[in-house]
Amino acid sequence: MSLANKNILLGVSGGIAAYKSAELVRELVRAHAKVRVVMTHSAKKFVTPLTFQALSDNSVLSDEFEQAEATNGMDHIALARWADVVLIAPASANTIAKLTHGGADDLLSTTCLVTHAPIALAPAMNQAMWSNSATQDNVETLQKRGFLFFGPASGQQACGDIGEGRMFEPHQLLLSLSNLFNTGELTDVNVMVTAGPTQEPIDPVRYISNRSSGRMGFAIAEAAYDAGANVHLISGPVALAKPQGVEYASVKTAQDMFDAVQANIKIQQIFISCAAVADYRPVAKQPNKIKKLHDDLSVTLVRNPDIITEVAKQSNKPFVVGFAAETQELEKFALHKLERKRLDMIAGNDVSENEIGFDNEENALEVYWPGGHCSLERDTKTKIARRLISLIAQRYANTHKRSNVTILKNAKDRSQNTR
Ligand code: PMT
Repeated sequence: MSLANKNILLGVSGGIAAYKSAELVRELVRAHAKVRVVMTHSAKKFVTPLTFQALSDNSVLSDEFEQAEATNGMDHIALARWADVVLIAPASANTIAKLTHGGADDLLSTTCLVTHAPIALAPAMNQAMWSNSATQDNVETLQKRGFLFFGPASGQQACGDIGEGRMFEPHQLLLSLSNLFNTGELTDVNVMVTAGPTQEPIDPVRYISNRSSGRMGFAIAEAAYDAGANVHLISGPVALAKPQGVEYASVKTAQDMFDAVQANIKIQQIFISCAAVADYRPVAKQPNKIKKLHDDLSVTLVRNPDIITEVAKQSNKPFVVGFAAETQELEKFALHKLERKRLDMIAGNDVSENEIGFDNEENALEVYWPGGHCSLERDTKTKIARRLISLIAQRYANTHKRSNVTILKNAKDRSQNTR
């Protein structure tokens, strides 16, 4: 599973194992995760904030009352919302006790009280402290509240004792973290996603296009991959890195996208058409740059193939999910497209606001299917994509009468955005 683009909030509490967390940050950054580090005061006695700052490429946070510029404008509320997961490594006996009792006297503990993200603890302490009934009672209480425990391992300890209480090694923590994102909702399902704009050439230097950045479609491809799908992503020209683990094709025009989709559609079980495909193209590309000879200029446009409609027409068609980017009457036009294009589901995207939709970090969707509706409220495209994939998995499982109860349950939990 991929940790790319996952927001990992690493809490470091006081313990000799804090040096291993520096290695963990390096591994997370290598895996293209976004890392922010919060240190407790005692953690700073073992490793300096500068180490984590250099490795994570972000300022290290510690005190809730630090100046805003030191935190890049992120207070504990913003930080708690930003995190996809909070991992505290090392988690000392004191930090575990503080979380059990809802203590809130530093940035790490207040963030833990605020966040809706999963919280995982990697305990690191002397074996006698770990086995002490006070610690064990605290662990049990936290587990009942949904906290996750990665480790501890047993073996030789820094103090010379042998026993349980060693922090998991960075590679074990990396694996445990990536397993968290593996929802299994679309295990072994073939999913094709289109993304980005298309470019329709007018002459060798000009084209007709739109403001799609590809972010929404790429986030959907990543979320489908995390759900266990075999993902085939086809994108128009964008400035994004190819997501890990997916089959990728880059195209330019609507006709290129149509051809790339048709070449592989037969084996797909789900088709998600997020691309902002140009409806029209110039009737012909001029062989040379058009000269500025007249006061006005007309370019005759002809219709492009409607890629999603052609997919939905096929016998043995996949489960087809469209998007509807609208500046007015979102519900009416989205439902109209759902019916006219014979889709299984459509994500209505209100693009009248400049802060969401095209070329923005955030989005909000109104998702419709025959007889049903769900609002995915404004959030980052990464989080919206995960919730959309859960909804799709749920509907896909329903329509394909898949008996896998776990898939349905996971999908419901995630679409309700619960921890
Ligand atoms: O890329 P971002 O910057 O992240 O922005 C995301 C987005 C706003 C582009 C995305 O969320 C979105 O709304 N995509 C659909 C944009 C669009 O073209 O909508 P439409 O209403 O014009 O098209 C309806 C559906 O038909 C879409 O699924 C589209 O992919 C498909 N279509 C359209 C025309 C065409 N010739 N072939 C198609 O398959």
